[in-house]
Amino acid sequence: MQDPVEQIKQKLDIVNVIREYLELRKTGNSYKAKCPFHNEKTPSFHVSPDKQIFHCFGCGVGGDMFSFIEKIEGVEFPEALRILAQKSGVEIKRSDPRAISQKNRLYDVCAEAGGFWYKNLYSSAGFKALDYVQKRGLNQDTVQKFKIGYAPDDWQKTMHHLRSRGFSENEIFKAGLIVQKKSGSGYYDRFRDRLIFPVQDLHGNVVGFSGRALNSEETAKYINTPEGRIYHKGNILYGLDKAKTQIRKADYAIVVEGNMDVITAHQHGCDNVVACSGTALTQEQTRLLKRYSNNVALCFDQDEAGQLAAARSIDLLLAAEMNIKIIELKSGKDPDECIKNNPKDWEDSIKSAKLVMQFYFDRYLTEENLNDINKKKKAVKSVLLEITKIKNNIEQAHWLKKLSEKLDIQESLLWDSLPEQKRSGQNSSETRKTEVVLKKQEKNFEQIHFERIITILLSYPDLIGYVVDQLEPEFFNDQKMIAFYKSLIMFYNKSDNVDKAVMTNWLSRQSDYFEQSYLDSLILYIDREYEGFEPADLEKELMKLVKNLKINYLHKKLNGLNEELRSAEKENNEEAISRILKNIKAVTGRLSELK
Ligand code: CTP
Ligand code: MN
Repeated sequence: MQDPVEQIKQKLDIVNVIREYLELRKTGNSYKAKCPFHNEKTPSFHVSPDKQIFHCFGCGVGGDMFSFIEKIEGVEFPEALRILAQKSGVEIKRSDPRAISQKNRLYDVCAEAGGFWYKNLYSSAGFKALDYVQKRGLNQDTVQKFKIGYAPDDWQKTMHHLRSRGFSENEIFKAGLIVQKKSGSGYYDRFRDRLIFPVQDLHGNVVGFSGRALNSEETAKYINTPEGRIYHKGNILYGLDKAKTQIRKADYAIVVEGNMDVITAHQHGCDNVVACSGTALTQEQTRLLKRYSNNVALCFDQDEAGQLAAARSIDLLLAAEMNIKIIELKSGKDPDECIKNNPKDWEDSIKSAKLVMQFYFDRYLTEENLNDINKKKKAVKSVLLEITKIKNNIEQAHWLKKLSEKLDIQESLLWDSLPEQKRSGQNSSETRKTEVVLKKQEKNFEQIHFERIITILLSYPDLIGYVVDQLEPEFFNDQKMIAFYKSLIMFYNKSDNVDKAVMTNWLSRQSDYFEQSYLDSLILYIDREYEGFEPADLEKELMKLVKNLKINYLHKKLNGLNEELRSAEKENNEEAISRILKNIKAVTGRLSELK
């Protein structure tokens, strides 16, 4: 059978892989985006569909789709392999040494437990749980889609099952599935007699579980997987693996509090719903959402805890410059109840979602508050505080204007009451960071010309003869460039017909001189430097570059000769003086010819 890594590379396009993380824009033959690995304002992150590589000119990172996943997900190769295998539908054997890692073993043990509990729901032991599921209105498709299961009412049944499937006690423990006994040694099952909601990351890996009690006598309504190697509550949005496609399509996500809310919403056909599972959104969750859409509607419970979580989530979303709406339910305490109560109520609630600032206006600027001067002052302050959190100046101005109209107070007065640093408060640390990166990347004259020439040759290999003819290796000022260029000359002399593919192939084999990522960057450089250039323009540009290099070289040579001349004059070395003068004359002659 073919190598799975190769199979994945054939099935997937790096452009589509990266597109799940970044907004890519086409330029020439490649795509570009703002680099996710360093802070920048203008895009210097390039992706080449032809070569199936990426490279950032700002910070220098680059590689293929596997290294992209490793970097962006912060994982090692085995996990990247697993992610891309899942995406491509290529099967990887658990025994494939490249796919073996501690993390992957933990994903496997979780998947096994999930499968075991799912089956158990339909066994005679799961009768009670299945009954509960049905009473809550979930159909079989939904149970299957969310892999809902039932953990047996037993202290060790799950552990024994997993052991029989070859997982060690330590692995089962690390996955959070068993708990160490307080007295004596050994472990017992964490999840017992509970309805199980597997928690999946956005790639579909089962990373943890939420176990709901089947009756209200139970002290803990939910038992969850503890934080661990693969489960970080703050990094997961429940349901995102199933909702991400629709969120991107609809360009809109709905965030709710509970897992049951997600499940019921999906069953009702509302596929863009995810849950933050009972807490405020975290920065990481915000980042995840932003990958799929900039538009979010929050539907948190009306109770105090829900409102507090909503407020904190809004702050994070505003900081991430996302567009936020608030959904206020027409009935029920949460979406699950609302939908079951009357699906139309849910649909209407979504339709009448309010822009978050409008929501704050309505909440604070109530008639009661506006009729009492003290209450009014406090309310206005609260609204202003929310307005200062808007990062976009135009949007901020819009809401200030609205506020001034509503209160019949001059806008300028309101502006003045905004805290200084918060008015259009862009912080400059971002720009500073970019500058640092650019500084580090500063290149000298020869290097810039070298890169531009090579990049043009990669696109127009027909011009290589001209370059070889005109350009001497010593025009470059660096041993690596010289050696590389000599190798190019040799390659040209040896080959009959150099086309793009042959040229690119040759380049990728020059790792004696430069690092692979640098060589890759040369391939992408053309679209960055010469976006929109016609072939004729590029030919002219190439001639100019070669000429510049020549002039530069002769100038330097002239400087050197002048210095030699001065010391020869000091020493009164007549013979040397006349030899140097002759050389100077030759060089100036060549220079004036060029100019
Ligand atoms: N949660 C939790 N532990 C609890 C209570 C809640 O982890 N003791 C999390 C769960 O992820 C839950 C979410 O917070 O899904 C929202 O809580 P809640 O609204 O109480 O639960 P629902 O999902 O609405 O469950 P149900 O409708 O069955 O009451
Ligand atoms: Mn609920």
